[in-house]
Amino acid sequence: MSDNRYLWQHKDLLDTSQLSRSDVFHLLDLARSFEEINKRPVRKVPTLQGRTIVLLFVENSTRTKTSFDVAGKRLSADTHALSQSGSSLNKGESLLDTALTLQAMNPDVIVVRHSSSGASLFLANHLSCGVVNAGDGWHAHPTQALLDCYSLRKAWNGEFSGKRLLILGDIAHSRVARSNVVLLNKLGVHVRLCGPRTLMPAGVASWPVEVYSDLDEAVKNVDAVMCLRLQLERQQAGLLPSLAEYSRRFCLTARHLEGACHSVSILHPGPLNRGLEIADEVADSASSLILDQVAAGVAVRMAVLYLLATRK
Ligand code: CP
Repeated sequence: MSDNRYLWQHKDLLDTSQLSRSDVFHLLDLARSFEEINKRPVRKVPTLQGRTIVLLFVENSTRTKTSFDVAGKRLSADTHALSQSGSSLNKGESLLDTALTLQAMNPDVIVVRHSSSGASLFLANHLSCGVVNAGDGWHAHPTQALLDCYSLRKAWNGEFSGKRLLILGDIAHSRVARSNVVLLNKLGVHVRLCGPRTLMPAGVASWPVEVYSDLDEAVKNVDAVMCLRLQLERQQAGLLPSLAEYSRRFCLTARHLEGACHSVSILHPGPLNRGLEIADEVADSASSLILDQVAAGVAVRMAVLYLLATRK
């Protein structure tokens, strides 16, 4: 549980590495209190009335963009969304000029998604309003990792320490994997990675993880498996022999899970490539938390917006 004397001190949320354990548990507790609002017949409270949130999404998104929008609206903030298409970015305006233009309208928080690693840090260094990183290149996706931990906290009855979690698939191109490794490690979870050698990040030997190339070995006795999307749009040619070969070795099926803990939980940040990285029988099973993760995303993003917009 979080401490009553606790004070959130971050202007921005850029990655999970900036968060202390107190920050994480305070945020998860706050999200739990907001989750109740999402189940009411009237799902709106006046908490952020008069506050303004801008969603600057320069890369495609369904879950993150919609859930930040819903989160802001449920707290009565005014939310405004801007994408690359339909904005003056498409006329050649720079990201910084776009962000400074938006800041001149006096928002409390700007939520940024961008294909370049470091884009949100760059903007946070130039803007006085709060900046949330909603995914920057391969680098980080802190609210995804936080909502994953929120879902796991429920599935594991509040216990993180000593649990074993496998992250499976395209680790090299995954900001979700990077933010989760940092956060789960902070919470005492033993993290395993499994995927083709060509999709392991350079320097993985220095990460606080165990690395496997055989899925049957990797999945033994794990409490959760987090499948990742094969990020074909970020890959150079030649990293995989073929998609059929990838699927044969790394697509998570019910048979693989026979070696996992009986109560194993399945996560996937979405969007899913069904049959390529995860079989239907797993994605749609009773063990799957995939849609719980989406619901958790609203509550966690309500907490993030609240903390940044009301920071003294
Ligand atoms: N998990 C995730 O970031 O999904 P979207 O790309 O749909 O936002």
